[in-house]
Formats: sequence, C-alpha cells, structure tokens
Amino acid sequence: MANLPRRMLGKTAIEITPIGLGVMQFAGGKGVFRFVFPPMPQSEMNAIVKTAWEGGINWLDTAEMYGKGYSEQGLARGLNAAGIADEDVIIATKWWPVLRTARNIPRTIADRQRYLEGYSIDLYQVHQPYSFSSPEAEMNAMADLVDAGLIRAVGVSNFSAASMRRAHAALALRGYPLASNQVHYNLLERSIEVNGVMETARELGITIIAWSPLASGMLTGKFHHNPDQLARTPPGRRLRLKRQLARSRPLIDLLAEIAPRYEASIAQVALNWLIHFHGDTVVAIPGASRVHHAAEAAGAMHFRLSDEDMQRIDEASRPQR
Ligand SMILES: NC(=O)c1ccc[n+]([C@@H]2O[C@H](COP(=O)([O-])OP(=O)(O)OC[C@H]3O[C@@H](n4cnc5c(N)ncnc54)[C@H](OP(=O)(O)O)[C@@H]3O)[C@@H](O)[C@H]2O)c1
Repeated sequence: MANLPRRMLGKTAIEITPIGLGVMQFAGGKGVFRFVFPPMPQSEMNAIVKTAWEGGINWLDTAEMYGKGYSEQGLARGLNAAGIADEDVIIATKWWPVLRTARNIPRTIADRQRYLEGYSIDLYQVHQPYSFSSPEAEMNAMADLVDAGLIRAVGVSNFSAASMRRAHAALALRGYPLASNQVHYNLLERSIEVNGVMETARELGITIIAWSPLASGMLTGKFHHNPDQLARTPPGRRLRLKRQLARSRPLIDLLAEIAPRYEASIAQVALNWLIHFHGDTVVAIPGASRVHHAAEAAGAMHFRLSDEDMQRIDEASRPQR
C-alpha cells in the first residue's frame, strides 16, 4: 500500500487518507439499488477493494441501506480476499433511521457486525436526519456503543448545520466528538458552502465527507465526450445527468485543460480540488463500479493542484447566487 499523507477524522484519533472508497455500488441488483446499479460479482468487488487499497486508500464507506448488509458483506469479503487485516483498515458504515427510533441502534448493531464478518466499525453514521427520534436520543444510543467498544467514532449524514450542532452538543455531554457529516458535495453541487454546513463543520472541527464527489460520473467528462453513454445509465440517474450535461460543459473543458499538466484525468482534478480547496476539512468517497474507477480515485491523492488552478476551478464552478 502506498504511503500517503493522512488526516484526522474530525477530533477523533482515527487517521484517514483524503480519499476513501464508497461501496454503494456493491449493492447493485439488490432492493431499490436494482434500479440504479447492475449486480456485481464478488470477484469484481474483490478486485475493486484490492486496487483501491494498493493505490493508498485506507478507508471504505458502506451502509445498512446498501442492500441490507449486501454491500457490507461484499466489502468484508473483498478485504479478506486481499489479505487486509482489520487493524489496518478503517471502515465506515451507517444506521438507517427512517421510520425507526434510536432504540433500534443497539438492536441492529449485531447485524452490522455479522455482515462485516470480523471487520470492526470505526465510524458509525446516522444515515439521514429523518427519524422518529431526536438527534440527542440518537447520539446517546451511539455513545453507548462507543462506551461498549462496539464502534470507535460517531458521524451523521445529510444533517443541516442546526442538526449537526445538536448532535455535536449531545455527544460532547458524553465526552465524544462528532467526527463527521457525510453530505452531497461536488463541483456541481456546492450548497453546503452557503447553507451553514461547511462553516459549522470548520468551527466545530467536524470532517465533511463528500458523497457523489464525481456527480455520479458527470465530473469524469465521459458523458460530454460520448453523450450516447447517457442512454445506458439506469433511469434513476439519467434524468439528473441529462439536466447537468449542458451547464457543466465549460467546467469540464477547464478541467480537461488543467489535467494534462498533472498527468491526471478530469475526474482526478475534480477530486483533488474537493480534498484541498477547504484545507483539511473535506474528504471524498468516490464510488467505483469498475476496477479502473478505483485506481483513478486513489491516483487523485498523488498530486496537488496549484492555488491558481484551484481558484480557476472555483470560479468556473461557482453557482449563480
Ligand atoms: N450518505 C448518503 O446519503 C449517500 C448518498 C449517495 C452516496 N453515498 C456514498 O458516496 C459514495 C459515492 O457516491 P456515488 O457513487 O453516487 O458517486 P460518484 O463517485 O460521484 O459516482 C460514482 C460513479 O461514477 C462513475 N465513475 C467513477 N469513477 C469513474 C471514472 N474514473 N471514470 C468513469 N466513470 C467513473 C461510475 O459510474 P458507472 O457505475 O455508471 O460507470 C461510478 O459508479 C457511495 O458509494 C456511498 O458510499 C452516500
């Protein structure tokens, strides 16, 4: 595994690389994900995990929601096949809160452990802000799991600035930091910069984990180079991608102009901007459905855009406000 600079996950003692791998794609063909991703054989999952790891990525993000354990299990088997020891890898997974109360958190932790087949949960996140319970009740249940040694750190996902503050305060009463907020953030979706989430994360020392950092592939430039590829994307994603195609073309042209100077791809420049523009606050979890996606994701950590290039990308991607 390549030796790359690490960052602290929030104010925890957990060290992560600026890029982790999202493995939602491992749920392909299962439940609601059959409308989004095709089924993936375990051999492909194994190759994706091994490639990400060998490229230097030290953490992976999954969730209960991704096929009710299917993605977690595929990930665990991929890690095992690659000979990666539990103590060397960081695993983030998520509890699904919708139509549940915080009492479900201790009830379902054994399921997460079973699907992870011996790999420990380093970061356990509340997947959505929608629940029958308050953030305070959820954070107390999560803190109990930390006390019991079942998880190492607590995060949230898709939380507003106000909900983040509540979660942070509730955990502080138990002596733990809120490690992270996992949110939709990429060069075509920058709303966290104006809705208080980024500012609050910086103030409280909470890591922002950017999901869909490549805008579901739009920021690779592949649809601009070959719009026919859009027809082959699952209906669940096609409409949004179509809407983004025309407005993102000037940005893609700029990324394509910058990329060769770093011997990088368009996707790698888009990821590199995300993990450097806000200092150490933002890390990203690109998803991969093919081995070369994982290789490119890891390669995005092996260079650093100049300040001037980051400013140009900032200006070209800033939404009209
Ligand atoms: N917390 C939440 O609510 C939430 C929501 C969504 C996602 N997530 C997390 O975030 C992770 C990433 O999200 P995402 O998968 O939606 O986002 P993404 O990284 O923006 O997009 C991944 C998709 O882009 C394409 N792609 C990736 N690398 C490529 C490359 N080098 N060249 C060409 N195409 C490439 C692939 O599309 P094809 O498969 O079509 O080839 C891949 O499936 C997930 O795995 C999950 O862990 C969290």
